Amino acid sequence: MTNNPKRYTVTAALPYANGPVHIGHLAGVYLPADIYVRYLRLQNRDVKFICGSDEHGVPITIRAKKEGITPQQAVDKYHELIKQSFADFNISFDIYDRTSSKIHAETAAGFFKKLYEDGKFIEQTTQQYYDEKAQQFLADRYIVGTCPKCGNENAYGDQCEACGTSLNATDLINPKSTLSGAVPVMRETKHWYLPLNEYEPWLREWIVEGHKGDWKPNVYGQCKSWIDQGLQPRAVTRDLDWGVPVPVEGAEGKVLYVWFDAPIGYISATKALTDDWEKYWKDKDSKLVHFIGKDNIVFHCIIFPSMLKAHGDYILPDNVPANEFLNLEGDKISTSRNWAVWLHEYLQDFKGKGDVLRYVLAANAPETKDNDFTWKDYQARNNNELLAILGNFINRAVVLTQKYYEGAVPSRGELTDYDKTVLEDLQGMPMVISTYIERYRFRDALAELMNLARLGNKYLADTEPWKLIKTDAERVKTIMNIALQISGSLAILMEPFLPDSAAKLRNMLSMESATWAEAGAADLLPAGHVIGKPELLFEKVEDAAVEAQVQKLLDTKKANEAANAVVEPAKENITFEDFTKMDIRIGTIIEAEKVAKTKKLLKLKIDTGIDQRTVVSGIAEFFNPEEIIGQQVSILVNLAPRDIKGITSQGMILMAENADGSLAFVQPNKAIKNGGTVS
Ligand code: MF3
Ligand code: ZN
Repeated sequence: MTNNPKRYTVTAALPYANGPVHIGHLAGVYLPADIYVRYLRLQNRDVKFICGSDEHGVPITIRAKKEGITPQQAVDKYHELIKQSFADFNISFDIYDRTSSKIHAETAAGFFKKLYEDGKFIEQTTQQYYDEKAQQFLADRYIVGTCPKCGNENAYGDQCEACGTSLNATDLINPKSTLSGAVPVMRETKHWYLPLNEYEPWLREWIVEGHKGDWKPNVYGQCKSWIDQGLQPRAVTRDLDWGVPVPVEGAEGKVLYVWFDAPIGYISATKALTDDWEKYWKDKDSKLVHFIGKDNIVFHCIIFPSMLKAHGDYILPDNVPANEFLNLEGDKISTSRNWAVWLHEYLQDFKGKGDVLRYVLAANAPETKDNDFTWKDYQARNNNELLAILGNFINRAVVLTQKYYEGAVPSRGELTDYDKTVLEDLQGMPMVISTYIERYRFRDALAELMNLARLGNKYLADTEPWKLIKTDAERVKTIMNIALQISGSLAILMEPFLPDSAAKLRNMLSMESATWAEAGAADLLPAGHVIGKPELLFEKVEDAAVEAQVQKLLDTKKANEAANAVVEPAKENITFEDFTKMDIRIGTIIEAEKVAKTKKLLKLKIDTGIDQRTVVSGIAEFFNPEEIIGQQVSILVNLAPRDIKGITSQGMILMAENADGSLAFVQPNKAIKNGGTVS
């Protein structure tokens, strides 16, 4: 593909509608895709940016079951949530569709039917795993076992996420049903297979020979290694009741495999977007680019292209820029462990700061290796980069222009060598940044953008117009003119990365809509052009704000540990007589107060029915004295009295301890007359 295609079809992986989206999604897929697309639009390219929710497959049915709702209810809920999160972060899809739509069902079924009628599938009746308890065939995420390639014990029936290998359920060692935990039995069933082995020579030519050096090394390397290991026929249908029904006779109760229907979702979404959809999918002059995470590589580079090839009239992806994973504070992001920064929660805590997260995630994007997101880094990048470099430069330029010239851009006089170098650097910048973007190196592109802001900052710091204004006002005009040209270019060049801030800046500079081609020009803001009032682009992120986020994660960690805590083994047996030696009664707390100078102790007065007595109990961290008066408790009344902090404690309150160390009273589940025995 030339670098000058007629149009671009850019897709971002359809997220499963089985949970909200988090920073890992944004950093890995949607942000890079959005930067790329915004850049293309600034270049006046014809581009369609396609995405939507992936609403079929086992991930959805598992989630629905967990929440006690139907799969349709689950996807309705998460589709809306995900869609909103993307909109809030200015991910500028031309369409955010969903695979439960009618158009999609027709498109996916039509695709299958064509391949079926053209004899592209092999039909096979084989033994598949079946869960007798759940009365269901087990495919994909309904089954886990050990990966035959890497030994990961939690590989799914269709893929090992540890090594990326695509698997058939029958490949797994020690398979187990995730529905019931049962060891599955074999049962006969008929399915349709795409004979990937037949596509091997073509894939080798297309990828291994054709895309060497232009696809990212991680993508190319994975593809090559799979092709080298030999490809197997791959079932594209499943025995499930959630999905697109297989549109041929004799396929009752079967649906398309989610990884067959989902990528077709890109096509159906384009159809839903425009009547011109075929141009974007079938014209050789269209450039198709798939943005995905690394666990999606096999599907987008091997399986979907083979489907497109089998269909015959579709174009193939020109590139599949897959990213590695983003970790969070040193741990793998995990939905089930709630170890994530959820996009919708971030915006509740950091209102109006979508750009800050975009910046941090793009600056630290896992482009070539897994990376780590930390709140400390978030704060530092905001305060030391966005605020101190970009925000500071713009603020100086705009404030001084207002102060000295009432907002009118002054004209340049004679240029020093320094001025000339700065203008040259400015002029070269758009090309430097676009070269990186076109190679999918968004981190480097962003670093260059910041270098332009640094250049501006340094230029003002070196020339000190605020001092010079008293002695050489003419010279200051030239300096401020140049600073304003840099500001104007920044407003254009930062748009793909920081769309909200770019809009603010354009507004501040009273710039009409701008294009990439205009950036870098020495007269982007002509002399006499009147700019607007200064506005702060970024604010300081205070320690307290990030500490609260870190605390939230610590709480999550604690909750996870509690949930996973092992229950202590039982103590040695005792006789019934041993037990009956204990005299446990129900009593009521009638007084409670903290024991002075202690953290943990409460002094309680208990009506035991036998008497009223004082008990010292180590529960002060968990209960307010005022709130427990009147509560019934179980009390061991024949424990020998003990002196605690000078108070004689006559007995012991029975407490139940939770995994996180918190305490609860052992109480009767209906009121019992004080003195009632516990046995
Ligand atoms: N839902 C898949 C995931 O989250 C991605 C599907 S991409 C598509 O991993 F191509 F199938 F649409
Ligand atoms: Zn593996």
